[in-house]
Amino acid sequence: MTSWQGKTKSMSKQVTGIRGSFFDFIDDPWKHVGNEEKSARFYADGLLIIEDGKVKAFGPFDKISVQHKDVEITHIPGRLILPGFIDGHVHVPQTRILGAFGQQLLEWLQEWTFPEEIKYKNRDYAKAGTKHFFDNLLASGTTTCQAFTTTFPVAAEEFFEEATRRNMLVIGGLTGIDRFAPEDFIDTADNFYKDTKRLIGQYHRKGRNLYAITPRFALGATPDLLEACQKLKKEFPDTWINTHVSENPSECRLVEELHGCPDYLSVYEKYELVGHKFSGGHGVWLSNGEFERMAQADASVTFCPVSNFFLGSGLFRLGRATDPKARVRMSFGTDVGGGNRFSMISVLDEAYKVGMINNTHLDGSTDPRNQDLEEAERNKLSPYRAYYSVTLGGAHGLYIDDRVGNFDAGKEADFVVLDWNAGPRAMVWHESMIVGNEGPQTMAEAADLLFSIMTVGDDRNVDETWIMGNRAYQKSAKDEPALASTH
Ligand code: GUN
Ligand code: ZN
Repeated sequence: MTSWQGKTKSMSKQVTGIRGSFFDFIDDPWKHVGNEEKSARFYADGLLIIEDGKVKAFGPFDKISVQHKDVEITHIPGRLILPGFIDGHVHVPQTRILGAFGQQLLEWLQEWTFPEEIKYKNRDYAKAGTKHFFDNLLASGTTTCQAFTTTFPVAAEEFFEEATRRNMLVIGGLTGIDRFAPEDFIDTADNFYKDTKRLIGQYHRKGRNLYAITPRFALGATPDLLEACQKLKKEFPDTWINTHVSENPSECRLVEELHGCPDYLSVYEKYELVGHKFSGGHGVWLSNGEFERMAQADASVTFCPVSNFFLGSGLFRLGRATDPKARVRMSFGTDVGGGNRFSMISVLDEAYKVGMINNTHLDGSTDPRNQDLEEAERNKLSPYRAYYSVTLGGAHGLYIDDRVGNFDAGKEADFVVLDWNAGPRAMVWHESMIVGNEGPQTMAEAADLLFSIMTVGDDRNVDETWIMGNRAYQKSAKDEPALASTH
């Protein structure tokens, strides 16, 4: 190589380093019952080398720094750095309707959701809402989402355009509904097919955008719409499919009646949609057989505990989805605005409680006939299982774990910087109880701290969010409420 070639090469590559305490995952902790730390990596003093937005090297500072001597390093002390959170199921045009009182899914859709989403016909309204949506994601430490837009193509366009401006890895698509909604909200199967085809051409794999063919749910889909989805998937096999499945009991009953199918999943199976790159949101009422069929088909389910509580949908069977005999791919999602929080930390908080209730139901203490101690155990959301599920596990659940989810070399460098000493007063108490001032020194200490963040903390613990090696969000000091003195 001539010297000018070497020079051009080094000038064109942007290499930087991040020094701090890192925690990420290399495996599924549900595979390591009793030894979950085997699934994780922790470096109290670590170094992440990033080249052109991707991880070039990762490991202990002492080792990696000598191999990368001339790299400019940003030191982030007193924090925990994790791969960016992944929200597997969220609705962009519901950003302005969080906290609508008192309805289950079907009434909530009619009363609050469709009337708000119809406003996204208007490009300016959609643009402003989409901008708020992404601001909220980044402030929550979420770097990737799989999102529903709505019936109108401008909403899908604004979603991909805003994601592109922020250089974020997203999955999304025009959201199809051709029944069960007001006339001016529904689409036709033909239009949905044509618009989806155009949008796939315009956005799929352009920058970091990935396209999901998105029938909203089986209740809002005629056979024509589902046939259009089937045709689209055949024509564009590289695309994702995203929808809802078995969320609410009344919904499930209506779906089976309308489609004449024995269960909810079989509606999507009938149109050959259930397979690799298929995600079904919620899955609260999936039967054992449906879970098994999803596992066999390599399909994915998204656990949305905040929403399942808020809309009263029910308790997702976490221990069933993670059965090693029929392990289903799984991401966790906010389901904003069915979910009343943008924060994946809040999702973990509620997910933990769902698991604990399931655990009580399965341990034999309420009814010995329901006892299943292994499934009961799998419902316990340890910090390893929890943070895996919103990082590497979420990436696996969305079929993007070859690109994001941990700090392996070659991965896209999206990460979140957590401040354990922010937010509620209790966090200060936890800090002194668990780690002392120098921060966690062992993986066990870091895991304890992460558990306290997910159960006591929230988005206030998100200090910074980075996208492909660039800081995209930093909480300003003024956002932090003054702590009340105890003296
Ligand atoms: N099923 C169909 N549409 C929706 C929606 O917007 N939110 C939820 N939670 N479920 C749905
Ligand atoms: Zn949803």
